[in-house]
Amino acid sequence: MASYVVAIDQGTSSTRCIIVNRKGEIVSVAQKEHAQIYPKPGWVEHDPTEIWRNTLEVIAKARIKLGLTTKDVVAVGITNQRETTVVWNKHTGKPYHNALVWQDVRTEDMIAEMAGDSGLDRFRAKTGLPLATYFSGLKIRWLLDNVPGLRQEAEQGNALFGNIDSFLIWNLTGGAKGGQHVTDVTNASRTQLMNLETLAWDEELLAAFNVPATMMPGIRPSSGLFGTITSEVMPGVPITGVLGDQQAALVGQTCFEPGQAKNTYGTGCFLLMNTGTQIRPSTCGLLTTVAYQFGNEAPRYALEGGVAISGALVQWLRDNLGLIKTSADVQTLAAEVPDNGGAYIVPAFSGLYAPYWRADARGVIVGLTRFVTKQHIARAVLEATAFQTYDLLAAMQKDAAVELVSLRVDGGMVVNDLLMQFQADVNNVPVVRPSVTETTAVGAAYAAGLAVGYWASIDDLSANWGIEATFKPAMAAEKRSKLLHQWAKAVQRSLDWAD
Ligand code: G3P
Repeated sequence: MASYVVAIDQGTSSTRCIIVNRKGEIVSVAQKEHAQIYPKPGWVEHDPTEIWRNTLEVIAKARIKLGLTTKDVVAVGITNQRETTVVWNKHTGKPYHNALVWQDVRTEDMIAEMAGDSGLDRFRAKTGLPLATYFSGLKIRWLLDNVPGLRQEAEQGNALFGNIDSFLIWNLTGGAKGGQHVTDVTNASRTQLMNLETLAWDEELLAAFNVPATMMPGIRPSSGLFGTITSEVMPGVPITGVLGDQQAALVGQTCFEPGQAKNTYGTGCFLLMNTGTQIRPSTCGLLTTVAYQFGNEAPRYALEGGVAISGALVQWLRDNLGLIKTSADVQTLAAEVPDNGGAYIVPAFSGLYAPYWRADARGVIVGLTRFVTKQHIARAVLEATAFQTYDLLAAMQKDAAVELVSLRVDGGMVVNDLLMQFQADVNNVPVVRPSVTETTAVGAAYAAGLAVGYWASIDDLSANWGIEATFKPAMAAEKRSKLLHQWAKAVQRSLDWAD
């Protein structure tokens, strides 16, 4: 049998195992959703043990579908929802608390205190990030301050912190019996505790967030050895690639040249532009982050704009309002009307991220009249994603001072032609959908495969990338500016909602 790379994609909504061949094609997939736990408005948790169980299950399923033995697997790559925070006991493997998900806003009240007189950008120079509920640092601090006895456990060296990548690697490589406690530079860059230049945990940041260094995993390049699997699901196979999921999509889209950008439409929506070896600070509310580091090469950096809610708004329409039965129905419903009928939805369920960074913003639906039907609402749901992406792209073009010639897209929502066309229309830039849209998993596989020589260089990866469809802008300038004007007014309402 031919050899393959296995990628584990642990996302916000589900865990997937994807098996990739040398051409970058997906030959087997298994997926399982996990529970979203909402203890209070704005709080979002996952059960890490459920995620671990699901990981084992999807690996086994994807392997069985293909009849794959461990001998056929050259390496494993892991990609994950970033920032989501787990703290567990190193002797038992038991989490002290549910994982605090990146969307969780419970740390909102800590922001003002941390910002002090320096403001939200207090740590931006070192970390590329503003103070926000989004990143792991404040979440770790919340756990240390609120879980009885945890701070003492951490100070005694019994408690380990990890994003989901670290939690899975530790479990896969032996857990309490010698599991590797490691992460990669891209995940570490989202904790707000790593210095972007040194790529090491920063003492001053650890002290400011009051996080003991003993809890922190070792930081490694994204492509290289992280450990060898001991778990019986794939014993003896090395884990040689780890990337946060948005960085993995950038790699999967083979955006290796400075100026190349991709947008991933998942639970949230994340636009990343490669800025090469340059750490480019943002003046427009974007994030500066590590894009990837392959082996001993210099790290590559990216500018990033993220919005918390895109596909999650479709789920909300399905699960909370019951207006559609399956997520795919949103396109059918939206296509029954020519436009949004005047309705706009700003899905600030977790506040507004880039470029606004307002944890206190809340969702609004505006422009309602009796004319508005569920079809218009479905359309407004899709348009919300495109408008939010427009805001990111506008900020990115200012920061990077480059004119984007096209936007590479991926993620679950890109099957939606109506959304893709509308995206091209409001951005006035062609939208390019590649033949493989599972770029997140493919990116993790690429990082893993590069480390073991399965692919010789990034040229092999770029050769695998191909276009399936290009959506060209076709909207009159006047219409576009009217839509964007109305959208900006809707965003203002969402920001005004805060006291
Ligand atoms: O920063 C959060 C992001 O990594 C989550 O991605 O695909 O799970 O929505 P996704």
